[in-house]
Amino acid sequence: MPWVSLMLLDDRSQIRVWRELTGLQHHFGIAPVCLRRSSHLDIIPPNPLFNALARIMREDFRPFWVKQTYLAFRAAWINWFIRPRCDHLGSHAEIMAPWFIDISGPNISIGHSFTAINTASQRVQIGVWGRGPGQGRITIGDACLMSPGSRISASDEIVLGDGCMLANGAYITDSDWHGLYDRINRAEEPTPVKLGDNVWVGDHATVLKGVTIGDNSVVAAGSVVTHDMPANVVVAGNPAKIVKTLDPEIPRYTRMDIYADPELAARQFRDLDRYVLSKNRFWFWLWTLIYPGARRGG
Ligand SMILES: CC(C)(COP(=O)(O)OP(=O)(O)OC[C@H]1O[C@@H](n2cnc3c(N)ncnc32)[C@H](O)[C@@H]1OP(=O)(O)O)[C@@H](O)C(=O)NCCC(=O)NCCS
Repeated sequence: MPWVSLMLLDDRSQIRVWRELTGLQHHFGIAPVCLRRSSHLDIIPPNPLFNALARIMREDFRPFWVKQTYLAFRAAWINWFIRPRCDHLGSHAEIMAPWFIDISGPNISIGHSFTAINTASQRVQIGVWGRGPGQGRITIGDACLMSPGSRISASDEIVLGDGCMLANGAYITDSDWHGLYDRINRAEEPTPVKLGDNVWVGDHATVLKGVTIGDNSVVAAGSVVTHDMPANVVVAGNPAKIVKTLDPEIPRYTRMDIYADPELAARQFRDLDRYVLSKNRFWFWLWTLIYPGARRGG
């Protein structure tokens, strides 16, 4: 990270700050800056990607404290309305618009640092429709991501490991919900679905009943997975077949790396916000709400 000078810190602080920075830097290719306890950091203009991100973040024009107030409101909403719908919802859940997420049914457990990106038109859905009261379950590991329109529907059991990512419109189900001949009832035999750690399900891909997918595997966009898939493969097509094998020796950067310490990650994101939103002014932000044309060239 040549754009960050740690020269003014003592050795131990340099090592600590360096370690704290690398997780975020690896993931986004950006320079996290202005760490709370490292005000001596000398920020040298960062790379173009960082500039682009900073620009996008500034384009919402909110001053830092306005965004923090919004995030506090959102966290309160999650605690009040969403948490009670889960058996367990881990800390640091980032549900972008918690008023547009559907969580229904019993035995839903979600690990820490869960991220859901949901909109009014593309809700995220997590639903258990068990065979009887209190039956069926969904278990989602730590640091998982659900994108707009993604759905998990369980009759009996669906398990996602840590760091899994579901892209837009991805669908995971453990049941056909109707039989080929008996169109009223679902099949008697449970057919649970299990995704290992760090599985990435691509845009509008579907994982069907009874499927197990091994750690780190990728389901290509639009694929339909009907059979078990091993770890470290890319599968594609309908029905999905293995099209590539991933090299387990190549180092990976995953959501589990970013959120290994959820408190630290939250602090880093906050500090990044503080930096990129620092130039935003309240009255100008208010003006952009009344007169959106003011945003041009912002
Ligand atoms: C899975 C994916 C990342 C793999 O990318 P890649 O490693 O560059 O794969 P390649 O382009 O080398 O494709 C390998 C083979 O799989 C085939 N393939 C790739 N994606 C496919 C798909 N979605 N459906 C069917 N076949 C596909 C390719 O045609 C190629 O076949 P060939 O060897 O016969 O030519 C990519 O195909 C994909 O689906 N990207 C979309 C991811 C997404 O949904 N992102 C949303 C944001 S989270």
